[in-house]
Amino acid sequence: MENKKPLRSQNWFGKTGKDGFIYRAWMKNQGIPPDMFDGRPVIGICNTWSELTPCNAHFRDLAESVKKGVLEAGGFPVEFPVMSLGETLIKPTAMLYRNLASMDVEESIRANPVDGVVLLCGCDKTTPSLVMGACSVDLPTLVISGGPMLKGHWKGKNIGTSDVWRFAEAYKLGEISQKEFVEAEACMARTQGHCAVMGTASTMATMVEALGLSLPNNAAIPAADVRRKVISQMSGRRIVEMVKEDLTLSKILTREAFENAIMVNAAIGGSTNFVIHLLAIAGRIGVDLNIMDFDKYSQNVPLLANIQPSGEHFMEDLYYSGGLPAVIKELAGIIHNGAITVNGKSIGDNSLEAEVYDRNIVATLENPFKPESGIAVVKGNLAPNGAVLKPSAATPALMVHRGKAVVFETIEDYHARIDDPALEVDENSVMVLKNVGPKGYPGMAEVGNMGIPKKLLEKGVHDMVRISDGRMSGTGFGTVVLHVSPEAADGGTLALVQNGDWISLDVHQRTLNLEVSEEELSERRKNWKPLDLAINRGYVNLYIKHVEQAHLGADMDFLKGKSGSEVTRDSH
Ligand code: FES
Ligand code: MG
Repeated sequence: MENKKPLRSQNWFGKTGKDGFIYRAWMKNQGIPPDMFDGRPVIGICNTWSELTPCNAHFRDLAESVKKGVLEAGGFPVEFPVMSLGETLIKPTAMLYRNLASMDVEESIRANPVDGVVLLCGCDKTTPSLVMGACSVDLPTLVISGGPMLKGHWKGKNIGTSDVWRFAEAYKLGEISQKEFVEAEACMARTQGHCAVMGTASTMATMVEALGLSLPNNAAIPAADVRRKVISQMSGRRIVEMVKEDLTLSKILTREAFENAIMVNAAIGGSTNFVIHLLAIAGRIGVDLNIMDFDKYSQNVPLLANIQPSGEHFMEDLYYSGGLPAVIKELAGIIHNGAITVNGKSIGDNSLEAEVYDRNIVATLENPFKPESGIAVVKGNLAPNGAVLKPSAATPALMVHRGKAVVFETIEDYHARIDDPALEVDENSVMVLKNVGPKGYPGMAEVGNMGIPKKLLEKGVHDMVRISDGRMSGTGFGTVVLHVSPEAADGGTLALVQNGDWISLDVHQRTLNLEVSEEELSERRKNWKPLDLAINRGYVNLYIKHVEQAHLGADMDFLKGKSGSEVTRDSH
């Protein structure tokens, strides 16, 4: 279906007189021929390239491929930068700036003469921030992910980001030297791309493909594989057609698409961060999604993909084994096959011809890799609005556990005391970390998978129940209860936990309780004071005042919903 209404870019480039002169003339200083302004689709290429976001540092190349595709299809490509969030360098956490970057994306798209947008996403936060911002404008939009790194090799072993946590334990125990650490760095990060395991970046790439926002196979093609350039070029061709069809984001992002994303996330063992980002995206596009939906729609989906941290392999192995379409095909009996995607076909049609080439990597529903998958949402007096746990990355024996709390009031408190030989802790203790939530850190850092105390590591303990209002890296693992809501800094029950309190977790019953009476808790509440972070200005002050709790997606209250693409006033 061809869309006959004049394109929005003509409100700039199609103008006569002074305004049209100004809109076109300065563009022409880039050597653009006059016929590019003749009413053809103008495609914005929203680029998160940055040398401070190493996972996205190859994006200038990808943008060139997109441009070729746009030109081939008769469009006019214009590349623009937006705030880029690198997971590894940004302090105190890239998550603090996800909402800020989304504002940049939203306003950059709306304010400029573009008819459709290609989002170049890679490292963790660059995907949700771009999709959230684009949803609030709702133009035809297509996502291209940067692709995972190839797996690393060190001392005869395949390594990836999940090994960072293993290396850290080994270093604590003196099994790895600083010299070996430095050597392993280069062996792990040996190609362009984002983390090679099913961390948050790969989870986000999978999410956009499952939502129908990318061409098939986008999720798993390695960054270093030239087919990543090919899919970028094909995406450039396709976005021009999407503009002609007026295939906007809201036509693709239906409730069914969100349910599909949750089911696919369960099958691939995606990151817990998926919950927060998908909720925030739903809030922007106006689909009613809540935290219990994650539990509900992942419950009957077993783990099919054998990829770290839930399994053994890497994203490139998933690609060689058939890619995400092969996983989606296995789910054909469960998902909404008719959900439409950016190529105009349904998600079911896109996976019809997929084949599985290695059953060690992509299993069947009948004979899954693990029965437990997805996201479990636990509730109780310790988390009245919910907390999440990733069963596939947890220890089965700890899924029902009762233990005494060992409390850390802040992350600094944790660092100061965790390896103190005098710390009263054993393998049955429940480690509790407060004040690492959206308001408390601020920005909800990935510190929830607290490292195990050295004295327990020496005894061979590698997992314990850990509870916090923070997040965990998608590459992390363990019996880690995250995103406790309300958070401690917002006066949640978590703030009132004391050393020695009994805590019971029952993942099968979906409960998390602090075994302290209501009377005692209200006594403790009288003496509770929020931390004074002494943040009185700037973006972070705005963030603390407006950020919502984790169970709502941690977006800012005033950013929910969309304002559309219309701009009524001219600039001159
Ligand atoms: Fe960028 Fe892992 S650090 S994806
Ligand atoms: Mg991360």
